[in-house]
Amino acid sequence: MPERSHELVAIVDFGAQYGHLIARRVRELGVYCEIFPAEKALLALADRHPQAVILTGGPSSVYAAQAPTLPQRFLEQWDVPVLGICYGMQLMAYLLGGKVERAQRREYGHSQVDITAPSPLWKDVPPTWACWMSHGDVVLRPPKGFTVLAATENAPVAAMGHAEKRWFGVQFHPEVKHTEGGQTILANFLFNIAGLKGDWTTESFVEEQVERIRWQVGEGRAICGLSGGVDSVVAARLVHRAIGDRLQCIFVDHGLLREGESEQVMLSCREQLGLKVERIEAQDEFIDALAGVTDPEEKRRRIGEKFIRIFERQGRCHEDAAFLVQGTIYPDVIESGTENAAVIKTHHNVGGLPADMNFELVEPLRDLFKDEVRRVGLELGLAPEMVDRHPFPGPGLAVRVMGEVTPEKLAILRRADAIFIDEIRRAGLYHEIWQAFAALPSFRSVGVMGDQRTYAYPIVLRAVCSDDAMTADWYRFTPDMLARISTRIVNEVEEVNRVVYDITTKPPSTIEWE
Ligand code: XMP
Repeated sequence: MPERSHELVAIVDFGAQYGHLIARRVRELGVYCEIFPAEKALLALADRHPQAVILTGGPSSVYAAQAPTLPQRFLEQWDVPVLGICYGMQLMAYLLGGKVERAQRREYGHSQVDITAPSPLWKDVPPTWACWMSHGDVVLRPPKGFTVLAATENAPVAAMGHAEKRWFGVQFHPEVKHTEGGQTILANFLFNIAGLKGDWTTESFVEEQVERIRWQVGEGRAICGLSGGVDSVVAARLVHRAIGDRLQCIFVDHGLLREGESEQVMLSCREQLGLKVERIEAQDEFIDALAGVTDPEEKRRRIGEKFIRIFERQGRCHEDAAFLVQGTIYPDVIESGTENAAVIKTHHNVGGLPADMNFELVEPLRDLFKDEVRRVGLELGLAPEMVDRHPFPGPGLAVRVMGEVTPEKLAILRRADAIFIDEIRRAGLYHEIWQAFAALPSFRSVGVMGDQRTYAYPIVLRAVCSDDAMTADWYRFTPDMLARISTRIVNEVEEVNRVVYDITTKPPSTIEWE
């Protein structure tokens, strides 16, 4: 593997709800970081030599039987600056001989923190500020050699530090926007305490990935499953920069695309991007594979498998390409389940891959969030219209036609979706909205049109604002705009007699309906 050309912070994950947020905040400060599950932390540290470590929060109590932990003397072994957050701080205190107990009262939400001792962690931080707390255990006494740096009403040790060893802990969550000055505190740890420079930019990411891809693929050949979405286009572009025409892109038209999409993708990828792209007409194959399937996870699994079988077939036609490039991004990986995070959806390109697949994967974007991928796309010279396209899931309309997928239902959905997006574009809102689409439920409802009873499908509209798809809020259209869209859909799509607008956030919902 080529030498790493930039700093690395290891985020050791104990199953934190906000783990990905820590990663985002650190990267926003220009420092590259990766998340390692607690069980793999020791290996990762020995292998990757990070310049600093952040221990995340987690749902456990340090006293719980199955609580994720680290070896007693891990801090000495690592010999790098460490910041423990919430559970991370409790674990540090517990393993180093401090006193940790169940709090009298759980502290959840806003609290006031008071600084009790000076520290480089507090540079440019006011003496008192509001923070976000979410914990059951509390550190009552820090371990030997540590100073109490801050307190709240319910947490006598809201922050602690061992200045000489550069080990710090905070009970509150600096990564959450509700913690005032949280970003300053993280910056203080990274720059003042750990002495990092912040050398991670999209430019350095591109250079490093190009080198890594050259190292991985060598003189080999790769194929890339291109969907036309930003992730796969950026991945293809990166790999193309690394290995040139030894990359063959394959665009599978699975018949689960939106109106006019197949032609658009072929045109833009060939003409604007200069990639070698071959289109595979596989509509019947996918419809057959989905016949009778109603379970969303099973749909994703079958689609994932079909994609791979087609790529294997095509790979053999391209001088036995041994590598498959995928535009997998970080949220696909977490939602498909990691050791500490539950499965939300088995993204077709992660958990949906068959076990006996004949490819080695090349996934240069696997550690990035969508907004970071977009910045890399711009760095690679992609046009803003291409980079800012709304995300579209790999399994396409199959996860937007709820229940069994049929050509008739796909046709209804395509039409309704096209009207919705057309109205959004006309109103100049396309780039204000992060993702918008229509979905088709599997049931029908009664309506009345032209004095006649109808029994037809409803259409669900969903439009959300988000930064990274991990959380989302529904978009506030004006009532007039919603009325216009609804009228157009029921008038122009014969099989639809009702339109509903989804006003749930993620969580508790997800963005897609399946
Ligand atoms: P959810 O529905 O999980 O979606 O909130 C988050 C983002 O991921 C997209 N998505 C997928 N993308 N394969 C993909 O390539 C999938 O199986 C898949 N499921 C959801 C979704 O459109 C949203 O942008």
